[in-house]
Amino acid sequence: MSETIRIVEVGPRDGLQNEAAMVPTATKIALIDKLIEAGHGTIELTSFVSPKWVPQMADAADVARHFADRTNLRLPVLAPNLQGLERALDCGVREVALFTAASDAFNKRNTNATIDESLQRFEPMMDLARSRDIKVRGYVSTVLGCPYQGDVPLSEVVRVARALHRLGCYEISLGDTIGVGTPRKARAMLRSVANEVPLSSLAVHFHDTRGQALANVFACVEAGVRVVDASVAGLGGCPYAQGASGNVATEDVVYALHGMGFETGIDLGKLVAAGRYICSEIQRSNGSKLALAWPE
Ligand code: HMG
Ligand code: MG
Repeated sequence: MSETIRIVEVGPRDGLQNEAAMVPTATKIALIDKLIEAGHGTIELTSFVSPKWVPQMADAADVARHFADRTNLRLPVLAPNLQGLERALDCGVREVALFTAASDAFNKRNTNATIDESLQRFEPMMDLARSRDIKVRGYVSTVLGCPYQGDVPLSEVVRVARALHRLGCYEISLGDTIGVGTPRKARAMLRSVANEVPLSSLAVHFHDTRGQALANVFACVEAGVRVVDASVAGLGGCPYAQGASGNVATEDVVYALHGMGFETGIDLGKLVAAGRYICSEIQRSNGSKLALAWPE
C-alpha cells in the first residue's frame, strides 16, 4: 500500500488574504466547496484576525459558520489572540492555527508583538482550546529568512517550534514566508527542528517567491515530512512580507507526489477546476504550471 501525504490547503486563507479587492463571501464559499469536492480533507478556511489589519478576512464568521457542520473534515482557521479564538469558537470552529515567527522584526509587523510576547498570548488560548477540546496547530514564519532582519538563526527556529509543541500544538508548520529557502537549507532546517520536535508533528509551508517551493517540498518529503501546506493555483502572499508571492501551488505538489507514488486523496482534474474557478473570479493568472498544461 502506498504512503499518504496530507495536504493542508491554505488557498482560501493564505491565498486570498492578500487580495486588494474584496472577494465576495459567496465566492470564497464556492471555492471551498470545490476544494472539498476535489477530495481535500484539510482546508484552512479563513482567519479571525483584526479586520483593521486584514480587511479581506472581515467575513471570517460567515465563512466559518457556513462549514461548521462539516464535522468529517478538518477545517482550521487562523487566530492571533484570545479575541480571535473566542470569535472562532462562536462560529462552531473545531480547529485553530496560532502563528508566530522565528524573527522578532517580522512578528512585530505581523502581530504587533515580539516572539516571546506572542508565546505568552498563546497560553490562555491553549487553556481555552483545551477546555473546549479544540485542536491547535502552530505556525513558525520566516524559518529560512526574514524580509526585515535578513538571516534567521536556526537555533531560533528550533526554539520557537519547540515552544509551540510544548504549549500543546499537535502540529507545527514551518513557514518560508518570503520564499528565500533552497532545498538543502530547507532540509537542514527541517532536520534541526526534528531533533527537538517529532517529525510526525511537523509540516512544511513554502512560498514560491523565487521558484524554489516545489524543490523545497521535495527535499523535505525525502527527509520524511508527511504534511505539506499548499495553495490552489499558487494563490497568495503575506500582507506583512514585502514581495512575498503565493504558496507552492497545490496542483503542482499533488502531481509531483502522485508521480512519486504517494497518495493524497485528491482528484487532480477537480483540483485544477477549483483553481481555474477562483482565478477567473478574481482575475488573477494561474500560478500552477500543471493547471496551464491540463486540458480545458
Ligand atoms: P493590535 O492592533 O495590537 O491589537 O493588533 P489590539 O489588541 O491592540 O486591538 C486593536 C483593535 O483590534 C481593537 O479594536 C480590537 O478589538 C481589535 P478597537 O477597540 O480599536 O475597535 N482586534 C480584533 N478584532 C477582531 N478579531 C481579532 C482582534 N484582535 C484585536 N482577533 C493583532 C494585534 C494580532 C490583532 C493584529 O496584529 C492582527 O490581526 N494581525 C494579523 C496579521 C495577519 O493576518 N497576517 C497574515 C497571517 S500570518 C501569515 O500569513 C503567515 C503564515 O501563512 C505562515 C508563513 O507563510 O510563514 C501563517
Ligand atoms: Mg504563508
